[in-house]
Formats: sequence, C-alpha cells, structure tokens
Amino acid sequence: MCGIMGCVGPASSDAANTVYKGLKKLEYRGYDSAGIAVTDGNAVNVVKKKGAVEKLLPSLAGLNGNIAIGHTRWATHGKPSDANAHPHRSGGVCIVHNGIIENYAELREELSSLGETFYSETDSEVVAVLFRRNYRGDLLRALAETVKLLKGSYALMVICAGEQKIAAAKYKSPLIIGYGDDGKNYCASDEPALADKCKIMTVLGDGCFALISADNVEIYDGGLRPVTAKKVPLTAVSAELSLNGCSHYMLKELREVPVSVKNTVSAFSGVESKLKEAFKNVSRVIITGCGTAYHAGLIGKRYLERFAGIPTEVQTAGEFRYTEPLINENTLVLAISQSGETADTVEAARLSLAKGAKVVAVTNSAYSELTRLATVTVPVAAGPEICVAATKSYTGQIAALYLIAATICDESVKTNILGNINCVPELCKQVIENININTLAHMCAKSRGVYFMGRDLDYAVAREASLKLKEVSYIPSEGYAAGELKHGTLALIDRKTVSVVLITDKELAEKSANAVEQVLARKGKAAVITCVKEVAENFEGRAEIVLLPKCDKFLAPFIASSAVQYLAYRTAVLRRKNPDKPRNLAKSVTVE
Ligand code: AGP
Repeated sequence: MCGIMGCVGPASSDAANTVYKGLKKLEYRGYDSAGIAVTDGNAVNVVKKKGAVEKLLPSLAGLNGNIAIGHTRWATHGKPSDANAHPHRSGGVCIVHNGIIENYAELREELSSLGETFYSETDSEVVAVLFRRNYRGDLLRALAETVKLLKGSYALMVICAGEQKIAAAKYKSPLIIGYGDDGKNYCASDEPALADKCKIMTVLGDGCFALISADNVEIYDGGLRPVTAKKVPLTAVSAELSLNGCSHYMLKELREVPVSVKNTVSAFSGVESKLKEAFKNVSRVIITGCGTAYHAGLIGKRYLERFAGIPTEVQTAGEFRYTEPLINENTLVLAISQSGETADTVEAARLSLAKGAKVVAVTNSAYSELTRLATVTVPVAAGPEICVAATKSYTGQIAALYLIAATICDESVKTNILGNINCVPELCKQVIENININTLAHMCAKSRGVYFMGRDLDYAVAREASLKLKEVSYIPSEGYAAGELKHGTLALIDRKTVSVVLITDKELAEKSANAVEQVLARKGKAAVITCVKEVAENFEGRAEIVLLPKCDKFLAPFIASSAVQYLAYRTAVLRRKNPDKPRNLAKSVTVE
C-alpha cells in the first residue's frame, strides 16, 4: 500500500527522473495517483496526478533539482484525485506518507481553528502543515516534534525549501535507506525501487529518523541520539523485476512456481534446528494470515495435524485479534505473509508474543516487520513478486508449511515426506506448461458466477481459486466445501453459472463426484479438475475436464493451486483485465 521513494544527488543531478523510475517499480503498492516533489535547495516544485505513475512523464522536464521525493498511492482516506495525490505541500514544505494517521481529524480541526487551510481529503496533509509550523531551521527537530503528535503508522519523507537533505521517519510502515553506488543516497518503502542503484541498505527501525544527503546518511533513535546504522545487503536486482518476455507479471510468476518451491526447500535447512527448538513443549498451533496467505494456512493445518499430530487452528489475522484467543507459552503461532508487512498479520503476531506464545513467521520478505518480531522466520524463497495477485509466493508458503510439519514429525515418517516434496517443482512445471485450461477459462469468462468446491485439501484450494478469480477477473465467485453445495449454494446454480469441482484425492472421489452430479441435475455448467483418471472418464462429455498429473494427495495442493491460479489468469486476459493491477487493490496492506 502506497510506495514512496526519495533521492538526493550531487548538485545539478536530476533527481525527479530517478524517483520517477523508482516509483514505476513500486506501482504494485498502489496505482490510484502519483506525484513527485523536487528541490535544488531553493524552491520546491510539485507535480501530482490521478492515475498511474506514467501520467507524470510529460511534466518531468519541468522538475529540476537534485533532491526529490515521490509517491504512488493506494487510496484509503479520500478518493483517487489530483488533489488527494501526494506529495502534500504546506508553504515550502513537501511530504510523502505511507501509513495512516488515525488522529488526523482532530489535528485538522485544531489546525483549521488556527487558520490553516487544507486542500485534500487525506489524513496525510496534516503532517505537512504540522511540519511547516514546527520547522525553525532544524529538519530533525521539526520532524520529531511533528511525529510526536501523530497516532497511527507512518513512513515519512520531507523536503523543505532551503535544505539539501531529505528527512525521514518511520513507525510501523516500512522504510529503507539505500547507499548508492552512483554518488547518490536513497530512501524507499521497499527494495525494488532501489534495484541496481544500491548494494547495501539500512532498514530503519520503528521510531527512528534519518537525514539523507548526497554524501551522508545520519540515523537517529527516538530520543534523537545518533546511532550507527546497521547495513545489510539489498537483494533486489532489475533483471528479476523484468517481465522476461511474458505479457504479464502474473504469467511470469506462475512460470516461476517451480523455482519458488525449489528455492524454499533449499533455504529451509538453515532454520531447521531453530524451528525444532521453537516447537519444544508446544501443544497447540494457531496459523494466521490474510487472503491467499490464510488459504496457505488451511493447507498447513492439514500437514501439521496429519504429519506431526499437533492440534492446529487457522484464523484470518483480521479476526484473530478480536476473538480473545486462548494463547499461552505452549502455543505456537505461525504467521504467514508474503510481504511480512500486512498490518493485521503483524498485529496478530505482536499480540501472540505479548501473551507468551512463540511466533514463527513464514515470509518472502527477509527484512520485514514480521521477521523482526518473530521468534523464528522460515523463509519463502519465491523472489520478488510484482503482480498484486499472489501466485509463486503462495506455493512457496505451502512448501514451507509442508517442511515445517515434516521437520517436527516422527523420524519414521519424516524421510518419506521430505523425499516427496522434491517431485513438486517438476509436477508444477508440467501443469503450468501443459495444462489445457482454455475451454474452462472461456466458460468462466462468460459466466455470471463461478463456484469452486472440493473436500479436505481440495476445499482449501477451492477457497484460493475463488479469491484469485475474483481478484483478477472481477467475476463473482465463491469457494466452499463440496458437501455444503446442497445446503444453500445449489439455489444459485443455473445455466449461466460454472461450478468447478476439485477432485485430487481418490478416496474422496466418489463423494465429491456427487457434487458434480447435483450441479448437472440443476442444469449448471460443470468442470472437474482432477488427478483421478476414473473421475475424468466418468464425466467425459458431461463436464469440462482438466486432468492433472497423478501425485501423492498431500502434494496435490501444489499442482491444483497452480492450475486454478492459471485459470484465473487466463480468464482475466479473456476479459481484457490487467491481472497485475486489479482495481481497488494493492499488494501490501499496511492498514488494519
Ligand atoms: C492475494 O492474491 C491477495 N493479493 C491478498 O489476498 C494477499 O494474499 C493478502 O493481502 C496477504 O498479503 P501478505 O501475504 O503480504 O500478508
């Protein structure tokens, strides 16, 4: 949610162009509006526009200066518009903000009563006004005095007429400082913006401040004491962020599913012993996450209970915190998040730690807030995921959960389980390269609603299938347990709907096949995604069949989810929707 970037170069360098290119790489964080503010140390100029970053291009020539900050927005407070776009200005001060200022209404009222005028509906504009009022020639003090008044979350960058530095502050929203190889220094919400510009970075801590100039970076703690910056490698490289010949990132990232699983398996050995330690004396596991990560958790529950015999619950992170969860030191909370930034998931982890539980993070983001909090982090080595819809990170999460369960299970079954996962990359490759899903995609693209169903692990995949299809194609969809069809959803089935029944487990085939029959009896269109040859034969000519490679039932979620995610992609493309940037959504949701 909202990408921000700043750059300070030597006098007469072109900072606006650099920030523009960085913002383009952050668009997955939001694409409602964009803007850039520039100064050469004298006046500050701003350009901001509703729509994608590209809209700024014609105005770049007029933005001269060696210091710039920019923003690409996912709207929370105030509609997407030019006025609500960042940067926000107050006199000679310009700010960009990622996060939410919860007490903005009272601050705005107070400032209005003091004669201040506001030009936007955003929560962020108060920061610009407060900073201007607090600024008396000292950037750091003005920023510290400003953030003291804020409630909520923020990653902030400020530039000011007459100053040759960017001032930055961070609380609960991500901010990194990049040390350029090119005589410039940078600041950004996340790594892709700085790919190929920096090899090292500092991840700014909560409550900390930074003053960034072309040849120096100063970091301060909450008490404004200078601190030595911890420098870590910046791993994003442009080559990994390119489309690599694919029409969309979603397609490219689906093709990277095998590598995501393979790399997650390789990375796992580094945490195995810490993980075993964390699971000591654990009598219960709670898995939490949002959206697709939650769906991976549904599969993880099955692995933990079946392989390791540990009672496991799964809760969406947004609910978890409000259910007064029964947690103690024998509870282990598995928090799953691609970004490691999702506010609901991070807060669920924080609450669990406060109640004495251990928290194991499963994340694609090594320097995220979730990683920082967690007792142990199990890496998902999916590489950067640009498409808003999660694909390869989800498969990587399932691989990580499989490995976690296999690690803590009985030695006698462990070898077998661990050996099995090595087949997954090849199986997923076969599905993604060979699957014939076009007929089903056409059926879905023309339908009024698509219902996915299955039993046990297929049910978990049905939930993910439905979310992915809704997210990228905007077709109403639901994913539910096949047994539930006759308890309500059947009322929705008619010629204009498509029901997709997932049947990957031979033992459950007969029961799940009943659901297909019920759909056909009500004249609904039916499809079966199956690894079971007999099921395919049974429905040949009556339902659309998508045959998957035969595999162990606990590996089936990997291939079935690749199939349904690919189906969502194809359907979106047929409906001429851009699957990489679904309307109203952003990749990281850092507000609750
Ligand atoms: C997935 O396609 C969605 N964009 C969304 O549900 C996502 O999985 C969710 O917001 C959680 O994100 P996280 O994994 O970064 O925490």
